[in-house]
Amino acid sequence: MAEAQGNIESKDFGIGIPQDSQGYYLKGAAHLDWGMKDRLARVFNARSGKTVMLAFDHGYIMGPTSGLERVDLSILPLVPYTDVLMCTRGVLRACIPPDCGKPVALRCSAGATVLKELSDELVGVAIEDAIRLNASAMAVQVYIGGEFEHKTIGNLVRVIDAGNAAGIPTLAVTAVGREMVRDARYLGLACRVCAELGAHFVKTYYCAEGFERVTAACPIPIVIAGGKKIAELDALTMARRAIDQGALGVDMGRNIFQADDPVSMIQAVRAVVHDDETPERALDLYQTLKSQSKGMVV
Ligand code: 5RP
Repeated sequence: MAEAQGNIESKDFGIGIPQDSQGYYLKGAAHLDWGMKDRLARVFNARSGKTVMLAFDHGYIMGPTSGLERVDLSILPLVPYTDVLMCTRGVLRACIPPDCGKPVALRCSAGATVLKELSDELVGVAIEDAIRLNASAMAVQVYIGGEFEHKTIGNLVRVIDAGNAAGIPTLAVTAVGREMVRDARYLGLACRVCAELGAHFVKTYYCAEGFERVTAACPIPIVIAGGKKIAELDALTMARRAIDQGALGVDMGRNIFQADDPVSMIQAVRAVVHDDETPERALDLYQTLKSQSKGMVV
């Protein structure tokens, strides 16, 4: 029986040896059906193998978050520059034009807000509605080690089962409860649990120490969340390091839509993720685009 304590320390992560993707460009996806692969190919760019997802689902727990007070005004200008829209069905139907041509990672967990225990979630979208909305992925939050761990894992496996029947991949979102530490040991455990349970890709946080072990031990793609707003160079540096250490993209929210110039910031993030730019050159791009957008000479 596996135990939480007293196990031999994990050490053979094969760092530097890429996982064989067995004939499909995305790790862990070679043996999925055509519809799954087609949807994953909408999420992960087939040229770079990576993705810049724009997360703007914060309102489902936080209400009108700074930068998302008016999704129609703040998010629509970003749509041309994102690979995937990550949002709730409410905002999708209310604010996003269906002819924008972007795939959707549909937030499918619900049931808690910042006013109460966040891990007390349930499945908030029926598979029929995800199909109706042509979702390219369904996103479910899991709180590994959290108060309602069991319930959120139940949510994840129910959505995976429904998605498998419909050919829609599931994105497991590893939320970190207040009592948890965002280190490689915890994040590695959380991501691996999601992969073992059948998620098709995972969203997690970057950690400065040992993130390459988190990605190496997760047999499916990892994208990172941005977290709270930090300086633009720091956010670009975090994205660079995460990609260099095996992440296959970002699912970033506040560090894009709360930037001084969100349209320039998302293009700078794209330069890091898809064009292999350094954070410094991406910051130059950000500043140049920002000056141009404000009509200044650079
Ligand atoms: C909350 C979410 C949010 O969509 C997302 O993580 C927030 O993105 P960011 O941290 O980059 O603002 O999944 O758990």
